[in-house]
Amino acid sequence: MQISKLAIITGASRGIGAAIARSLSENGFGVLLISRSQDNLNRISEYLQAEGGIAFTLTADVTRQDDLQKIDQFVKDSNLDLSVLIHNAGISKVGKIEAFAIEDWNQIIQSNLTAPFMLTRLLLPRMKKGNQVIFINSVAGRQSFPEWAAYNASKHGLRAFADTLREEVSERGIRVTSIFPAAVNTPLHDELNLGWDRKQMMQPADVANAVMYCIRQPSNIRINELDLSNMAGTF
Ligand SMILES: NC(=O)c1ccc[n+]([C@@H]2O[C@H](COP(=O)([O-])OP(=O)(O)OC[C@H]3O[C@@H](n4cnc5c(N)ncnc54)[C@H](OP(=O)(O)O)[C@@H]3O)[C@@H](O)[C@H]2O)c1
Repeated sequence: MQISKLAIITGASRGIGAAIARSLSENGFGVLLISRSQDNLNRISEYLQAEGGIAFTLTADVTRQDDLQKIDQFVKDSNLDLSVLIHNAGISKVGKIEAFAIEDWNQIIQSNLTAPFMLTRLLLPRMKKGNQVIFINSVAGRQSFPEWAAYNASKHGLRAFADTLREEVSERGIRVTSIFPAAVNTPLHDELNLGWDRKQMMQPADVANAVMYCIRQPSNIRINELDLSNMAGTF
């Protein structure tokens, strides 16, 4: 299979990122899968290639500037047209503010907010008319929930960053979309272990469908923001 379009997905080793990678691959994109765990990336990429897709992997911690440089170098060396950049990697931790560790605060802000800024800054010179930048934000980017201070702050900040980016690049014909899903049944909830009903949550493929909906729009149509929730309600 020959590909001309490349999509970069951060946090593609599991959960929502892996589902997005699968949808993009099925729709003819070459996908560059990024996360910190090479084994999981290999597993996803082998699956996509077995299905006839073209997938590349790059082990990178998106909070590290030197790792981000590797992503830029990959795009440069590949000679592929970077068509879609999807900021999906993210982490969360909950707890009351008075007991919340500064290290956890910094890690969440670094991963969810500063990393998308740094990666966008690096790759933007390669992007051109018709290309898209998609942020997997969260319902917590619009609404604030108790005990989620760092996550709320990171995702509210991410929305503001995406809005600013949209204003700056729209005259170049680059489209910027923020997607705000409510709870999705992914490994993120294994770690949070909040006792929420996982059966009531959306599936990663639901978010991937929303991403594809945005990508399928003609190049003169921009979806700025998209809310996504289960009829069962917001968690
Ligand atoms: N699940 C939900 O209910 C929900 C709802 C709304 C929005 N979201 C958002 O959706 C996105 C994906 O969440 P998910 O639920 O799919 O989470 P997940 O299952 O925990 O997956 C997170 C992904 O991000 C990667 N990642 C985390 N930190 C990274 C780092 N520093 N560098 C590189 N990769 C990193 C992880 O890979 P490694 O650990 O291998 O690096 C993994 O691939 C996040 O931005 C999250 O905030 C989730």
